[in-house]
Amino acid sequence: MVPEQNRKTLANMYKVNVNGENVNELLQAHAHVWNHIFNFINPVSLKCAVELGIPDIIQNHGKPMTVTELVAALPTLNPTKACNIYRLMRILVHSGFFAQKKLSNDAQEDGYVLTSASRLLLNDNPLSVTPLLKAMLDPVLTKPWDFLGIWFQNNDYTPFDIAHGKTFWEYASHDPKLGNSFNEAMASDARLVSSVLIDKCKGSFEGLNSLVDVGGGTGTLGKAIADALPNLECTVFDLPRVVADQQDSGNLKYVGGDMFEDVPVADAWILHNWNDDECLKILKRFKVAILNQDKQVMVKITPILGLRSLIEVYL
Ligand SMILES: C[S@@+](CC[C@H](N)C(=O)[O-])C[C@H]1O[C@@H](n2cnc3c(N)ncnc32)[C@H](O)[C@@H]1O
Repeated sequence: MVPEQNRKTLANMYKVNVNGENVNELLQAHAHVWNHIFNFINPVSLKCAVELGIPDIIQNHGKPMTVTELVAALPTLNPTKACNIYRLMRILVHSGFFAQKKLSNDAQEDGYVLTSASRLLLNDNPLSVTPLLKAMLDPVLTKPWDFLGIWFQNNDYTPFDIAHGKTFWEYASHDPKLGNSFNEAMASDARLVSSVLIDKCKGSFEGLNSLVDVGGGTGTLGKAIADALPNLECTVFDLPRVVADQQDSGNLKYVGGDMFEDVPVADAWILHNWNDDECLKILKRFKVAILNQDKQVMVKITPILGLRSLIEVYL
């Protein structure tokens, strides 16, 4: 119990009317802070559900699955933890990865079903983004976020450099497991994005004879564009170790190199997610490539996918 005098002092301190709305405001603000402090539980719960195979288990069940059925179907679950599965599922229902359906009017338990978001995490979905989830939530990639505050106060280039003492690309070149997992993550994300890109933005490539996807990874986007536009010569340009095992085919070829040193000549370049300074460096490489061409060029910058991916097209 807070003594009356203290309650008044507290109320004064926060300009809180103990009978009125300001108390609600204070409690809402408190809940807001809590929600943000514990927000990290959302991605780790999702990662846990994928590690336990929950989306596929519910899919294979073929009908709404009760928590009792789910617990029984989890092959690696330690029995002493079974009573906590409903807690995990409650978070994931709240965050929109599963929904609950009434099984029948007199049923004791509801059943879990997938949502469109969890369908994107199924093993056999060709547009599955599970590799993206696994790579982005790998501790090597989450640890740098702990250094964001320090990064703002020192000269290090990225929080990744502070956490690991090297750039991400250097790290990945020495850790093939992480490098491959990152490449597969990018490819899985690009599979979904390229299907939309080809469907909605194919016209942006019309009139081009050649195109380079700069930092195009293992070529998911390049392949999709090359297949959709057979008369367009497509080059996927990436670090030598990334393209080393890829095979040229038809109008698609792979070139290894460093985009900050040199880029292949083309009518157009696709550029992904770099910061302003890096973009400037790469654009200077494009300028050199443009000057090396015999024909006159008109420069046009077309952001096709907005924030996800800035695509710069030079004609
Ligand atoms: C965010 S990923 C883009 C992946 C690509 N969109 C895909 O679908 O796989 C950035 C890519 O840039 C490549 N990269 C990083 N530094 C590079 C450099 N200096 N020269 C060429 N490519 C580089 C990485 O290997 C990576 O594949």
